[in-house]
Amino acid sequence: MRVLVIHGPNLNLLGERQPEIYGSQSLAEIDSALAREGRELGLEVRCVQHNGEGHIIDALHAARGEYDAIVLNPGAYAHYSHAIADAVASIGIPVVEVHLSNIASREPHRRVSVTAAACAGSISGFGLSSYLMALRAVREIHGK
Ligand code: DQA
Repeated sequence: MRVLVIHGPNLNLLGERQPEIYGSQSLAEIDSALAREGRELGLEVRCVQHNGEGHIIDALHAARGEYDAIVLNPGAYAHYSHAIADAVASIGIPVVEVHLSNIASREPHRRVSVTAAACAGSISGFGLSSYLMALRAVREIHGK
């Protein structure tokens, strides 16, 4: 099973960006942990990061026929990008949304995710573990 992990805007700065909210691990460390967990679960995991909304949409489109599932952290786009939500709804691949922080307990503008509504499910608030749980979730979705 091939899984594409898409990290959205500003997540390239993890480790130095507001560590009190997002933790002290860098994106490279998160990607290594995902690769390790993927191997244990028998998943082929590839991770990419894009700051631009259009780049995320292009990555979602390009995943058709290439990946069996997607783990997506849309960053702030989660809160207002109907274009990403439309892309998720259009590609016919299950997408699990993740957030490092618990968006439900943050500022009012972060409490809604318009993209999560188009996803198979969402996991929020567990730091790196949000991503690791998402790998298990996509495996469940595919009945493995
Ligand atoms: C985030 C939450 C978003 O509100 C924020 O804009 C991010 C990171 C998270 O992983 O907790 O960039 O998606």
